[in-house]
Amino acid sequence: MRPDPLPGTAPAPTRLADYTPPNFKINSVDLDFDLKPKGTRVKSKLALTRVSGGDLHLDGEDIDLKSVKLDGKSLKRADYTLTQTQLILTDLPDECVLEIETTCNPADNSKLMGLYLSGGRFCTQCEAEGFRRITYYPDRPDVLSVFTVRMKAPKDKYPYLLSNGNMVESGDSEDGKSHYAVWEDPFRKPAYLFALVAGEFDTLEDSFTTMSGRDIPLTIYVDPGDAPRADYALDSLKRAMKWDEDTFGREYDLERFMVVAVRDFNFGAMENKGLNIFNSSLLLADAETATDMNFERIESVVAHEYFHNWTGNRITCRDWFQLCLKEGFTVFRDQEFSADQRGADVQRIKDVSALRGRQFPEDAGPLAHPVRPTEYMKIDNFYTATIYEKGAELIRMLKTILGPENFRKGSDLYFEMLDGTAATIEQFIECFEQATGEDLSQFMRWYEQAGTPELSVTVDESLTTPVQGTRITFSQRTKPTPGQSEKTPVVLPIKWQAIGENGPLSEPQMTVLTTEENTVSLPRFDEAVSLSVLQDFSAPVILNSQQTSKDQLRLMAQDPNAFNRWEAGQTLARKLIGTQALALESGEIPQTDDALREYCEALRNTLHDDKFDNNFKALTLSTPGTAEILQSLDQADPIAAYLAGDWLSRAVGNRLRGDLLQRYHDLSDDGEFSPDAESAGRRALRNRCLSLLASGRDAVTAGLATEQLGTATNMTDELAALITLTKLGGKRVNTSMEKFYDKWKSNPLVIDKWFSVQGMRNHVEGVSAIKELTEHEVYDARNPNRVRALIGSFAMANPNLFHAPDGSGYDFFTDQVLDMDRRNPQVAARLLGAYEIWRKLDDRRQTQIKDQLKTVIASNPSKNVLEIATKTLGN
Ligand code: BES
Ligand code: ZN
Repeated sequence: MRPDPLPGTAPAPTRLADYTPPNFKINSVDLDFDLKPKGTRVKSKLALTRVSGGDLHLDGEDIDLKSVKLDGKSLKRADYTLTQTQLILTDLPDECVLEIETTCNPADNSKLMGLYLSGGRFCTQCEAEGFRRITYYPDRPDVLSVFTVRMKAPKDKYPYLLSNGNMVESGDSEDGKSHYAVWEDPFRKPAYLFALVAGEFDTLEDSFTTMSGRDIPLTIYVDPGDAPRADYALDSLKRAMKWDEDTFGREYDLERFMVVAVRDFNFGAMENKGLNIFNSSLLLADAETATDMNFERIESVVAHEYFHNWTGNRITCRDWFQLCLKEGFTVFRDQEFSADQRGADVQRIKDVSALRGRQFPEDAGPLAHPVRPTEYMKIDNFYTATIYEKGAELIRMLKTILGPENFRKGSDLYFEMLDGTAATIEQFIECFEQATGEDLSQFMRWYEQAGTPELSVTVDESLTTPVQGTRITFSQRTKPTPGQSEKTPVVLPIKWQAIGENGPLSEPQMTVLTTEENTVSLPRFDEAVSLSVLQDFSAPVILNSQQTSKDQLRLMAQDPNAFNRWEAGQTLARKLIGTQALALESGEIPQTDDALREYCEALRNTLHDDKFDNNFKALTLSTPGTAEILQSLDQADPIAAYLAGDWLSRAVGNRLRGDLLQRYHDLSDDGEFSPDAESAGRRALRNRCLSLLASGRDAVTAGLATEQLGTATNMTDELAALITLTKLGGKRVNTSMEKFYDKWKSNPLVIDKWFSVQGMRNHVEGVSAIKELTEHEVYDARNPNRVRALIGSFAMANPNLFHAPDGSGYDFFTDQVLDMDRRNPQVAARLLGAYEIWRKLDDRRQTQIKDQLKTVIASNPSKNVLEIATKTLGN
């Protein structure tokens, strides 16, 4: 056995440039599981064909090798090489059969990768490199094979035995106590899509008739008692199946489709072939226990994992550097699905908010990397907002540039040409070139270059008087990112339109900027003009324009593009908050009166305009969050940034008080709960009104919130009231929190919400209150959902305590991350991402966080945590 690398020394990274194809093809895999919590025996039989000279490398981790047989003959210890991470066989014949027997320990698997137990049920998570924790295997996505899985377990504890594909055999074992099942998946797949589930479940069943008339049984497996909460997921699944047929021409392929919900899960959900596994938080919902946001998320995640069946499973990735091939494309597909289900305008606003709130900071910080990275230490750390969200934006731009028909031609060709293969980004782009005749070579730069481009828009002369032939200049620039100092121009589709005092003066235009700079001319307009630039956020850039507040107010009222109407309000709000934050830091009184008054007037007009739906109004009445504000500042005091945001909400709340109160009452509950977008929009706007009113911290609002908490019949309203009360502060907060806890203590998903509200509270006791919560009777550091609820929300949504000036928040957080790292490095590494913001902060906090990162590095952490800590710290 090879010893561990020395503590603190960085292991060698994996590089895209070093890719070599595998030496062997695996024609078939036969797996045989004897399932036991403490010692599961796995027999694997691989039929191999050599494709090039060299050794056979099989990956393995945390498993015990019992025996190896080659073509039926047992191998001796000297016949193979066994290292900490690999089993290597040399001089194999061109065709052979390898049989490997191993054992693993699911009960003690706290990493939740490979085969583990959740609530006493066996389940698996193999993406990206978990299969090697089950058996020795070439655990890489370009090795595709057909799998047959046999499993055996005691009948009473594990009545359901599931795996990918179709069940071909089942029955009782000879001992009478156990039973077995055999599953066959006819589609060749990489090991990361393997899944096995065994345990006791309640089921919810339905079926879907595909476009070619095949009847597909659908089953959702949940913890006993949870079946009624799976209705919405099942309904979402059927809508997603239909949508993929209608929109992309994609039909489901296997004879059945299964979804399993588990409580202990590192991620959101996983697209295992024919057997998706979900974090129960992204599957279970009913009116009483789930919020509208939960319903919306379930709909999109169920669709996302289903859509992977084509974008990910039928066509997979050649190597993990190509991760955005499946994730970026599939996120784009789920965004388009949600847009069709719930309204494109509002969906776009939410997607862009997520992009700007999570991906822009990543792209501007120490962890910036291209959508297709060129190297990594741990692939788990590269399931990032850049690969997902920016990756989706690239597909969206491709569609914008090519147009919808050509885009569909390209995707049709992609599915036809590359079906059954492990593909690359180049192959994907080539399909679109071939189908449309377009040259997309420059488009590839988007995949290679990290950093968010800045797009500047300048005009020759003022647009405040009638203009003719005025020139608009678009120019782009991308700042250097770690390891990439030189940047070249990317292809930017810019949608724009001229807007006058009473509405648009021109049709929407599109300029595709391919060079550093480009100029276009405006026709003659007899009145003042405002430019609405980057409509629908047609490219993922930071926009620098010469727009004045007057332009933004005009756009808020007149822009036919809903996204830019919203954006104009956000820009005004960002300016107001930014000015206030600087003033707070320097102790000055800001001069924002006129601007504030006009902004509030514009909000009032939006609130009363019947043309807009409630969802749009709620989003317009939401001001940018602290994360977004910090991005636009330097050397910022995060508490000042938070207080500035709070100040704006309070100002809006005060100035619109009458309107908000009126609207709050007008929108009150009208009976039967429905999770549809329109009903959700009503609740969203009403709770937005409540929240704005609460910024004033007055008794009337406290009364409304208390009443709402007591009478709410759905979790959206109940939780909104609870959060409002915590913001209002005072004695009633503790009583409300306790009551809520008592009411919901038997429902883990609601208790997670309770922990996350606790994590966000500005407790008077300071950080020690959060620490105390980690000792709460139902806090469980082994359950990722619970840790993310308390510690994640503390680090990401509690600026006052996390960024406490004395550094106590950071001390506590680092302890928590290191504690988690001993159990579950992936979850620990993700939490540690909270320190990514450090370069944006003031000197004192910069020093404090750097010291924390050095502490982490010195403590001999996992490879996952080491990679994030060293990269975040930088040089
Ligand atoms: N393939 C991923 C699951 C995954 C994530 C595996 C990270 C390994 C590491 C799945 O399709 C996915 O993307 N899940 C997301 C949710 C999705 C809707 C964006 C997740 O788990 O966060
Ligand atoms: Zn995915």
